[in-house]
This record gives sequence, C-alpha cells and structure tokens, in this order.
Amino acid sequence: MSIRPHGGQLIDRFVTGSKRESLLEKAMGLKKLALDDFQISDLELIANGGYSPLTGFMKKADYDSVVENMRLADGTVWSIPVVLGVTEEEAKTIEVDKELALTDSKGRILGIMCVEEKYRYDKYREAEKVFKTSDMAHPGVKQLFQRGDVLLGGDILLLNAIEHEDFKELYLNPSETRRIFEQKGWKKIVAFQTRNPIHRAHEYIQKVALEICDGLFLNPLVGQTKSDDIPADVRIKCYKVLLEKYYPKDRTFMSAFPASMRYAGPREAIFHALIRKNYGATHFIVGRDHAGVGNYYGTYDAQRIFDEFEPEEIGITILPFEHSFYCKACHGMASFKTCPHGDDQHIILSGTKVREMLANGIMPPEEFTRKEVAEILMDYYRSR
Ligand code: ADX
Repeated sequence: MSIRPHGGQLIDRFVTGSKRESLLEKAMGLKKLALDDFQISDLELIANGGYSPLTGFMKKADYDSVVENMRLADGTVWSIPVVLGVTEEEAKTIEVDKELALTDSKGRILGIMCVEEKYRYDKYREAEKVFKTSDMAHPGVKQLFQRGDVLLGGDILLLNAIEHEDFKELYLNPSETRRIFEQKGWKKIVAFQTRNPIHRAHEYIQKVALEICDGLFLNPLVGQTKSDDIPADVRIKCYKVLLEKYYPKDRTFMSAFPASMRYAGPREAIFHALIRKNYGATHFIVGRDHAGVGNYYGTYDAQRIFDEFEPEEIGITILPFEHSFYCKACHGMASFKTCPHGDDQHIILSGTKVREMLANGIMPPEEFTRKEVAEILMDYYRSR
C-alpha cells in the first residue's frame, strides 16, 4: 500500500479522449492567457497531482489562509501560495465565471481554467509571511513583486501535456513514481530535493538515509532557478554519472521535479515534503538551510518549522540532517553531530565559493565534489 496522498486523494486534472477533443475545440474560441515558465510549472504540478489536494490556482480564502496560517481554508497544511497573477490591464479583459484558455508563450493551448475569482492582494504581507523578508535582493521576493497585481482563482484542466526539451524520460507523474515504487517492492522511500550539483555532503546524507530505507528517490528540481544557479541539464548530467558509478542501481531511482524554486527556506521545506509524499515517498531529507538563500534563514529553521504541526498533518517522516562535510582527521564524511575535530580539519565550501573557483578554472577538491562531477562543472564553465 502506497502512502496516502496529501488531503487523501491523488489529483489528476488531465483530460483525454473525446472529452479532450471537444474541450480543445472549445478552447480555440475562448479568451486566451499566455503563461510564463513559472506559471506553467505550477499548472503541470496541479494537473499531475504533485500539488494534491489543489485542483486549481488558489482562490482568496485559500490564499489568505496559506499566507497567514500555512493551511488551506479547510485546515489542510499548505505553506506556499500557488497563484496565477495577471496585470491590471489583463484582469480587465477577463471575466469571472467564464472559462479561459491557458497557453504557452507560443500560443499552444495547454489547458482550460474556470475563473471563479479575481482578487487583489498585499505583496508586502505575502513577502513578510512567506519569505520572512521584503528585501528585493531575495530572489523569491523579487519574483513575487514581478507577479501581476491581480490573482485569478479557479480549477484547471490540462488538455495538452507540458513539453520538455531536455531529459524527457525523467518527467514522471506522481501516479507513475508510485507505481514504480510499488513494483520495486519499496516500503520505506526517502526523497531528496536539490537544486544544486551533487556534492559529497549530499551523497553522504542520502546514503545515511538509505541505510534505514528501502529506496532512495532523487528528485532534483528542474524548474526555474536564480540565474547564477547551475542549469538543470548540467546538474542532471552530474547525477547520472554518480548514479552510474557510486549508487546501488536497485535501490536508487531518479525523476525530475518540474517546480520552480521559491527560496522560501522553512516554508518551502514543508511544500517540498508534502509534494514528495504525493510522489509516493514516505521519508524526506531536510538538511542545513534547506531551500535557503543568502542569510535570510537560520541553518536549521527549515527543520524546526515542522514542530509547528502534528506529524499526522504532515504525513511524511522528516529526516533532519546536521551540516555535513569531509573531515581530514576522521578521513571521511562526518557532521557536527559525529565529528570531534575542529573547523581547521573540515572541508566546507559555500556554493558561491565553488562557483567562483569553477569560473576561475580551479577544480574543487575531491573531498568536496567527486572528480566526475567537478569535470562536468568545469566543462560547463569553460563553455559559457
Ligand atoms: S535546496 O535549495 O534544494 O535545499 P541544495 O541542493 O543545496 O539546496 O540542498 C539539497 C538538500 O541537501 C537540502 O535538504 C539541504 O538542506 C541539504 N544539504 C545541502 N548541503 C548540505 C550539507 N553540507 N550538510 C547537510 N545537508 C546539506
């Protein structure tokens, strides 16, 4: 028996067969709204059930409740607004209680939305509550302030699958990953979120988790990230080479997580955990400064936030990890929890430092990143 999806039922908003044909025809005659990549990734995750129990873009009652209390209006835990913003001008042309055809930037019809509500909202309140800051230097806050001033709320239906250019085989829906885990006979499945190239500390905490679970579900985020993060195709290449050489094939599985990054730290850790439960994971890794950026969040805030809820409300077991690193005196990977040696023995490099080394053609040490990964990253920096 797979783990229960968030809210009890795995949502599926794909329409197929003759119903799809007739809705596609209808959509041609509807008012069209072109979505950007961030909105399309939300649309995909609503439709495929990653965002269960959401069935559409949030209406005001859910939005307000999520921003204020980290719950949907019915009390279900949910920590990040999933909304569709449009400009004032666009909003004037969109009628409530009418259907809207959602397209990509080229005008290809993706789905239909029934616009049930149009509402204004307070961006400063959302920023302070969700990101704990309204500093425009925060990439999530910047993104929020670029969003349209009016939100459209209502259910969606997906008529055409979202197309992806790279590593197409890695895009699996939650119903598919659930089926795969069942086929593999895994009961305890630990999911790992990442937006960065894999380094030794990632590998260490994944493998420690795998010691107590049946399977490791690598689920790298491949949606929009900030401009200086390493692009998803390069990161996937790194994952593939490591999986091939250093991971047990029968106990590891990777698929792509199409979401965009919010950089909301603690709130995004909850969001990430609930979605991985929908994909069928029973356990979720939260390490140091999960989904953080700069110095906006405390190192372990993203672990502590789970204490604000009953474990049954979250429904997926959180595996918290201390800051991990290579220790020269231990001759191996360790953490502040397991290593008795001083900082001078620890090899700790920030993401910024590593990017700087790579940009200058300097190979990060093998204790930090495996050689195979460092080579892919060096190639990428050279080719830029
Ligand atoms: S994130 O934005 O997706 O969280 P990243 O890819 O760096 O960024 O991290 C993926 C996961 O690994 C997160 O749970 C993070 O907390 C954890 N993590 C990253 N580096 C370390 C480390 N050195 N020690 C412990 N946990 C880590």
